[in-house]
Amino acid sequence: MVVNQQQYRTIWHESNLNDAGVVSKVVRVIDQTQLPHAFEVLFISNLSQMVEAIKTMQVRGAPLIGAAAAYGIALATQEDASDASLERAAGHLLRSRPTAVNLRWAVERMLGVLSLQTVEVRSELAWIEATLICDEDVSLNQAIGAHGLGILRQLHASQSRTINVLTHCNAGWLATVDFGTALAPIYAAHDAGLSVHVWVSETRPRNQGASLTAWELGQHGVAHTVITDNAGGHLIQQGLVDIVIVGADRVTITGDVCNKIGTYLKALAAYQGDCAGRRVPFYVAAPTPTIDWTIEDGIRDIEIEERAAEELIGMVGRLKDGRVATVNILPEGTQVLNPAFDVTPAKWITGIITEHGVFAPHQLHGLRGRT
Ligand code: MRU
Repeated sequence: MVVNQQQYRTIWHESNLNDAGVVSKVVRVIDQTQLPHAFEVLFISNLSQMVEAIKTMQVRGAPLIGAAAAYGIALATQEDASDASLERAAGHLLRSRPTAVNLRWAVERMLGVLSLQTVEVRSELAWIEATLICDEDVSLNQAIGAHGLGILRQLHASQSRTINVLTHCNAGWLATVDFGTALAPIYAAHDAGLSVHVWVSETRPRNQGASLTAWELGQHGVAHTVITDNAGGHLIQQGLVDIVIVGADRVTITGDVCNKIGTYLKALAAYQGDCAGRRVPFYVAAPTPTIDWTIEDGIRDIEIEERAAEELIGMVGRLKDGRVATVNILPEGTQVLNPAFDVTPAKWITGIITEHGVFAPHQLHGLRGRT
């Protein structure tokens, strides 16, 4: 995507000459903790820095976490490409964020490729495979965009006015290598000249909707309005939402969808429908690396990440003088609980937009083996 007239992906690698004259590779990522206040690109030169970037959510969003983990393995091979080192690196990465299954998928893919090779050639191959994972992610998201565009075109044809899409969190290009999942159909529709407006749910506590989705859509010129998380149900009831499209961190083989906390309540409201009793279609955009083929019951079996209390206690924002600061908003000593994801049952989901097309949740199992 384009930022300040320059084409960017969220992650890439470069060769770097260090002070001792040694050439190595470094990974570059857009620091998402600084957006929308500053656009900064970080250097990541070893595994621990990558693990830290994932934990602190400088990189975030399921597909991007997968790409970052692949690069994490590549960075580890620069220091030591032995089996023991790869196993250690995999362990650190897998523990960094537990819910998005793309992370496990990418680590397993990297280890699967590297374990077949001799230690001497592993590092070179690791960089090639990580780059391939990134390139594939871009293609998957473009295909999701094209399939989702078909849905938006149909909606547009049936009502010939601006389509109001509700989304939650950030499943845009920042959450992937490029294009995004839930936002890919929106960008495709906008670029095709369809009139689209997006309700952006702010997504407490970290505000990925308000900080990242609003920033992305603004950069691309897509009309949008930020709403509080709790306003989604009201807008649906009032008939102001034509379709909900969200991303996913893990989809089960039966079509249950785990996504950012608050997704479940939007699905519930969409299923209930507007005040005339019309259900609002609820779509999930997810590439096949987000499907966990080992799990059937998402509510019972998906590990929900619990994040630090500080995320609820503090709010980050820009002060009038331009400085970015964190302010505390809770009474001192208040107890908090911060589950980062929830699970929407398959029965409330109209369709899952994948790179292979749009499927009802119960049809997903047919995609197994096509990844
Ligand atoms: O905690 P985050 O910001 O990594 O959570 C991101 C989400 O929940 C996204 O909706 C999801 O990863 C979809 S990614 C295209």
